[in-house]
Amino acid sequence: MAKAPVRVAVTGAAGQIGYSLLFRIAAGEMLGRDQPVILQLLDLPQAQKAVQGVMMELEDCAFPLLKEMIATDDPNVAFKDAQVALLVGAKPRGPGMERKDLLSENAKIFTVQGAAIGQYADPNCKVLVVGNPCNTNAYIAMKTAEKYGRVPAKNFTAMLRLDHNRALAQLAKKTGRPVDSFKHLAVWGNHSPTMYPDYRFCTSNGESVKDLINDEAWNRDVFIPTVGKRGAAIIEARGLSSAASAANAAIDHVRDWWLGSNGEWVTMGVPSDGSYGIPEGIVFGFPCVCENGEYQIVQGLPIDEFSQERINKTLAELEEERNGVKDLLR
Ligand code: NAD
Ligand code: LMR
Repeated sequence: MAKAPVRVAVTGAAGQIGYSLLFRIAAGEMLGRDQPVILQLLDLPQAQKAVQGVMMELEDCAFPLLKEMIATDDPNVAFKDAQVALLVGAKPRGPGMERKDLLSENAKIFTVQGAAIGQYADPNCKVLVVGNPCNTNAYIAMKTAEKYGRVPAKNFTAMLRLDHNRALAQLAKKTGRPVDSFKHLAVWGNHSPTMYPDYRFCTSNGESVKDLINDEAWNRDVFIPTVGKRGAAIIEARGLSSAASAANAAIDHVRDWWLGSNGEWVTMGVPSDGSYGIPEGIVFGFPCVCENGEYQIVQGLPIDEFSQERINKTLAELEEERNGVKDLLR
């Protein structure tokens, strides 16, 4: 028997990430090739005409899994009964800006949308925040939704999967090994240059990647900064922030959460449960394993002195961002 359609809300539907994302969701790449979907598209009033254009193109693809689409500028309509919500719509940074510089402009979006999710979304709605600064925006949405007591805090996540994929690509380049040979990579912390991509536990075909590379200077002086500053490098080269790779990472994040990661570690920004000494509620990049629609933070990893320093640094930045939005959350 055919499955019932899943309602997927996507914000920023007329934006550049939206244009790379929606077609892949409708093709079944996110929730499975046997899973019908209903797309609930949110964008600003002035972008509604462009959303109509995207919908015309979606229609012209004749995707068998796409059962219905709605376009709206009202978050309460967009998130109604949504089982998956991708919060992409927000301003991107330009050259010379850091992602946290967007906080004052974008933060309010996430109080409004968090309230709409908290009141109207499906109580098991899985939320992924892509709009930057994504960790703190996810925290804002989670805290606002919490007031309605319907959607659990653990369902609010932020996108560090792009950083995870970027790190995999750098390891593949360095070692000459295929990208899918790498297992057990982690990216800790904030989606910002303070993030800590960590290949200490990583293996390739069963061999330790740390031993294969055997170059701590490369780790500290090349790998970590290259992954951390990749977003800026793309803005510099393209004049626009990453879009297709961001959409791809969003698909990866939700697909693994929904369908399972087959025992593999994936990096997700999730509200801390106190693991690794990260204060509860801070939305932090952790290695996770997904099964039966739930994620678990990988436990018990040894944290050496250098790693602890890096984790402390990215945590301090997130605490600073959290302090910066506390008035919004009163
Ligand atoms: P874009 O400017 O092309 O599109 C943004 C869209 O969001 C526009 O259509 C705009 O009208 C819409 N929008 C703005 N405010 C909205 C609101 N309140 N409600 C609904 N829609 C709204 O930007 P983009 O390149 O698609 O990037 C979107 C966001 O994703 C940016 O904040 C960017 O920094 C972020 N991003 C995050 C990652 C990540 O790894 N976490 C990667 C790439 C980009
Ligand atoms: C990225 O990492 O590519 C995005 O977060 C966009 C940005 O501002 O870097």
